[in-house]
Amino acid sequence: MRLGNKVALITGGASGIGLAAVKRFAQEGATVIIADYNLEAGNKIQAELLEKYNHISFYQMNVADRECVNNVISNVLNEYKKIDILVNNAGITNDAMLTKMTSEQFDQVINVNLKGVFNCTQAVIPSMIAQGYGKIINTSSVSGVYGNVGQTNYAATKAAIIGMTKTWAKELGRKGINVNAVAPGFTRTSMVEKMPEKVLEKMESIVTLQRLGVPEDIANAYLFLASDEASYITGHVLQVDGGIMM
Ligand code: CAA
Ligand code: NAI
Repeated sequence: MRLGNKVALITGGASGIGLAAVKRFAQEGATVIIADYNLEAGNKIQAELLEKYNHISFYQMNVADRECVNNVISNVLNEYKKIDILVNNAGITNDAMLTKMTSEQFDQVINVNLKGVFNCTQAVIPSMIAQGYGKIINTSSVSGVYGNVGQTNYAATKAAIIGMTKTWAKELGRKGINVNAVAPGFTRTSMVEKMPEKVLEKMESIVTLQRLGVPEDIANAYLFLASDEASYITGHVLQVDGGIMM
């Protein structure tokens, strides 16, 4: 078991990549906390997974709401005594060309994708420092590495995540905490289903491996970085994108 006796909290764990990670981490023996905004999906997933795994629990959490994040993390720490692994996976899109993007569209994505990662990490980090051990995994994107048409807001957050990851790796390395990012390429979840078919086909055609990703491709990268096999890796951005734009 690669994550035996570990407690992992995965934001956005009720669907897509986050859900694949919840299952993968549970298979490897972790106690997994699903922290997601979607109450209905979270309750459903918790009930389904409890039939197979003992240690799964869902907490409703809006990563953009600092008070809510602090309350949930405090409740989790009361219940489980520690959080060894934090996967900052929750994220949204609200795409528009620069000429059409509203200020509200910009702020909404910044608040969830960027401020949310700051909120969750800041709430969890004192307990990791106290135990001298922790793994933080942040979800960036191919859009943050290369930019993407229609994603001024989203690409800004995903590029910022790379900067925060490297900064936190430098600040927290001496405390026994590894901080890394995964930058997925286009992966089959509800997020890409919203894209115009024409654009998605174009994206698939420029992937070296000639297919879109599946959630398990990204979950496996999270698992590797969360495991002690990656204990000498920090400040790294692992691109899991089938070789897009090489
Ligand atoms: N790459 C290249 N060209 C793109 C593009 C993209 N990602 N998105 C749009 N375009 C092109 C369109 O094909 C179109 O080209 P033509 O003028 O030659 O037809 C042009 O840009 C304008 O697009 P629209 O006519 O669709 O303009 P619109 O104002 O109606 O809509 C849009 C703009 C909302 C950005 C829409 O095009 C769209 O949703 N595009 C997809 C954006 C995208 O790639 N989002 C990724 C979502 S998945 C994700 O974010 C996960 C991740 O981390 C990668
Ligand atoms: P998804 O839409 O399938 O799942 C996102 C989950 O996050 C949902 O369960 C949703 O309820 C939750 N969520 C949304 N806002 C929240 C909030 N404020 N607080 C708590 N939870 C919230 O999306 P997907 O594709 O699984 O995305 C996961 C992560 O991967 C995101 O950070 C996304 O930006 C990133 N990513 C996705 C790619 C893709 O092609 N699907 C590519 C690159 C990065």
